[in-house]
Amino acid sequence: MNFERVFQMLGGGGKTSYAKNSQLQEKAVIKIKPLVEESIQQICKTIPEKLVVADLGCSSGPNTLLVLSQIINAVYEYCTQSSQQKPEIQYFLNDLPNNDFNNIFQLSVQYEKKIREEKGDDYVPFYVVGVPGSFYRRLFPSKSVNIFHSSYSVHWLSQVPEGLEEEGSHLNEKEIYINKGSSSIVADLYLKQFMRDFSDFLKSRSKELIFGAGRIILSFLGRADWQSIGGLLYTWGLIAEALNAMVLEGLVEEDKLNAFNLPFYSPSMEEVISIINMEGSFQLEKVQTFDSNWDPFDLSNDNFVEDKSLSGKNVSNYMRSITEPLIASHFGNDIIEDLFSRYAKNITRHMFAGKPKFLVFILFLKLKDEEQAICG
Ligand SMILES: C[S@@+](CC[C@H](N)C(=O)[O-])C[C@H]1O[C@@H](n2cnc3c(N)ncnc32)[C@H](O)[C@@H]1O
Repeated sequence: MNFERVFQMLGGGGKTSYAKNSQLQEKAVIKIKPLVEESIQQICKTIPEKLVVADLGCSSGPNTLLVLSQIINAVYEYCTQSSQQKPEIQYFLNDLPNNDFNNIFQLSVQYEKKIREEKGDDYVPFYVVGVPGSFYRRLFPSKSVNIFHSSYSVHWLSQVPEGLEEEGSHLNEKEIYINKGSSSIVADLYLKQFMRDFSDFLKSRSKELIFGAGRIILSFLGRADWQSIGGLLYTWGLIAEALNAMVLEGLVEEDKLNAFNLPFYSPSMEEVISIINMEGSFQLEKVQTFDSNWDPFDLSNDNFVEDKSLSGKNVSNYMRSITEPLIASHFGNDIIEDLFSRYAKNITRHMFAGKPKFLVFILFLKLKDEEQAICG
């Protein structure tokens, strides 16, 4: 399967669309606001005429505009307080070619009209450009971008790990990601693919970022260990369980299930830091982590899920908004309703063990100066 060609969030505005189910990602965007402000302050100190920002894996939901508005507000606040000329902003929206760029262009035009009316002469001019392509390759000319932002995206690999499907034999039968039934070889292949991809990501950005105040602000799903009840092993394992039940009932072909693996990896912090160090271009300025309930609508901090059935449906809708196009391209559209209804029930059952939470990593990276980069 060519992942880059089939992968996209579920479009439109329906109940299971990404636009209606991206509250978890919104939390990460809100968390990174102070880092966005810090970067803008650093860059604006040099009184630039223009500021170039790129949102990598922007998708087409409301969070895309939230990031854009954070940047514009930070520039507005800083320049107003320091009585400084506001720079023009070149704002690049990147995602894979199947992304619904039309929707996000329409939303950004509406947003521009709204803030032009609100701010009048005080308006921060910005120009939005779409950049289709994989962020695991070069996307911009050398030394041309001040800030890279990427939220909830780099845990998606460029492809299913190389070596998982060897000459017709499937190394991860009955599973769709690393799970208790997977061999250590499977976990190894996933880690190797993540190492290759994340290094390529950093290498490409190191060429494109403007040295000095330039920063990368990244958030993505990580893991503390493999076994915690909120681990991604369970998130995906409960979908695999539903698929296996459908195989037994003759609704899904066994071979199809055995040949399906997700191009996804949630690294540990040690793995991330070791890749950053090995790649060698960047220095980790700040690291934060936070927990986020699986159910995007559950805002409480306790460990008890009040309405497990509702939470199961919420999580299932959220996961469907991210994976439906990918799963449908492999198994066909016909299984989708049934699959995600079974998945919701599996999640509900899982929630009797406690409240599962995702672990989110936030990284703030700057380029090492040349001397440091050479010395490693
Ligand atoms: C879960 S969405 C996050 C979207 C948005 N940043 C947010 O916070 O709501 C992940 C996005 O990353 C994109 N993506 C995944 N792999 C990519 C790649 N290699 N290059 C560019 N975009 C990619 C997907 O198409 C998807 O739109």
